[in-house]
Amino acid sequence: MKLAIVGTGYVGLVTGTCFAEVGHRVICVDNDANKVKMLQAGGIPIYEPGLEELVKKNVASGRLSFTTSTAEGVQLSDVIFIAVPTPPQPDGSVDLSFIERVARDIAAAMTGYKIIVDKSTVPVKTGEKVTETIKRYCPAKVEFDVVSNPEFLREGFAVGDLMNPDRVVIGVRSKRPVAAMTEIYEPFKAPIVVTDINSAELIKHAANSFLALKISYINAISAICEAAGANVEEVAHGIGLDERIGKRFLNAGIGFGGSCFPKDLSAFIKISEQVGYEFRLLKEVQQINARQMDRFVKKITDTLWVLKDKKIGVLGLAFKQNTDDVRSSPAIDLCQRLIKEGATLRVHDPKGMDKAKALLKEGVTYVDDMNDVAQGCDALVVATEWEEFKQLDLDLARKNLSHPIMFDGRNLFDPATMEKLGWIYKSVGR
Ligand code: UGA
Repeated sequence: MKLAIVGTGYVGLVTGTCFAEVGHRVICVDNDANKVKMLQAGGIPIYEPGLEELVKKNVASGRLSFTTSTAEGVQLSDVIFIAVPTPPQPDGSVDLSFIERVARDIAAAMTGYKIIVDKSTVPVKTGEKVTETIKRYCPAKVEFDVVSNPEFLREGFAVGDLMNPDRVVIGVRSKRPVAAMTEIYEPFKAPIVVTDINSAELIKHAANSFLALKISYINAISAICEAAGANVEEVAHGIGLDERIGKRFLNAGIGFGGSCFPKDLSAFIKISEQVGYEFRLLKEVQQINARQMDRFVKKITDTLWVLKDKKIGVLGLAFKQNTDDVRSSPAIDLCQRLIKEGATLRVHDPKGMDKAKALLKEGVTYVDDMNDVAQGCDALVVATEWEEFKQLDLDLARKNLSHPIMFDGRNLFDPATMEKLGWIYKSVGR
């Protein structure tokens, strides 16, 4: 198939590359000329495991190319995917101006039947608006179909998620685009859910909100475990074996962050309000997430008392492991709160330090080796669930700290072992 992807952010770039990998011919469009130049030269603007090799391989094979021209993308393709940002507005609703702009650009360039697929996370009924916009701004007045095809990949695991999806959702208004959409996804061998556009759009917000709810649920349980002397990991294991609940997304910690869950929750609450339903459950999910961070900061201040002039080592800045993304990162929020209390920080993240430098400046020393973070510090904090932090040289860290105190916001270490090693070790829900 001949495909265009407009927008080469996390979703667009990974989607385009994986489509090329399974044999489609893909042209990726981005209005950032520097980004396009970088991609054409074989570089990638984000860290995502396995992506760089795939981009290089598919550019070399001629199946993947990049341009700044939407018109070129439209002319060379049968199916055009929209994968541009849908950022939050101050009131929690979604800014759809990028989607509208791209819909107009596509419409202006159409000279024959095209399928326009929305991949960005959008409020229900956006497909209707995109359809109206294309009709209005297409001088050639050609036939077209709008499809909703939400993406479910996770950052840090994006290539694997895209190549092996749990399901593919295709929202359509008529049968006409179904064959082409099925052909595009056939190589991925996943169940395909064909539904109407509004339901497809809702599936994405409903899925992300449910996953956020699951995390807040286990975080609420973690508070009860702490008060009652139980272990949240045991509880998560015990409930997760029930297949109706499932084991995944039951890791208690300092709360969820990133560019999706916080934004999508606010958007879904707003959308529900607009259609006349007050989604109080999701408001509570947000509250639990905020309180989880408050509880963690309190643990630190209860132990260290005054933070002014204390030096704290922080492991982790990215919003989760395997990514350099620090947008709405709980780790960054935590650092900012510690700095506000007067602490100075020594921080390390395997991939997120460059991006964090724009957000954390005053009072922060960036340390290249995780084993040097503890030097001269009063305590260590784990803020991101990077696997490699489990390999921290604990003996060296103990020697480097003024006192062997660790606050583990991601439950990476075993409490009994840490205590045996002489640490004052505080984690979440155990
Ligand atoms: C999320 C969804 O998982 C994807 O399915 C969806 O496609 C994506 O949003 C999106 O809308 O684009 P992502 O934000 O990349 O993916 O990251 P997640 O792996 O979902 O993690 C989100 C946050 O929850 C992280 O801060 C992570 O540390 C936290 N988390 C996750 C927990 O605290 N506990 C868990 O058990 C799982």
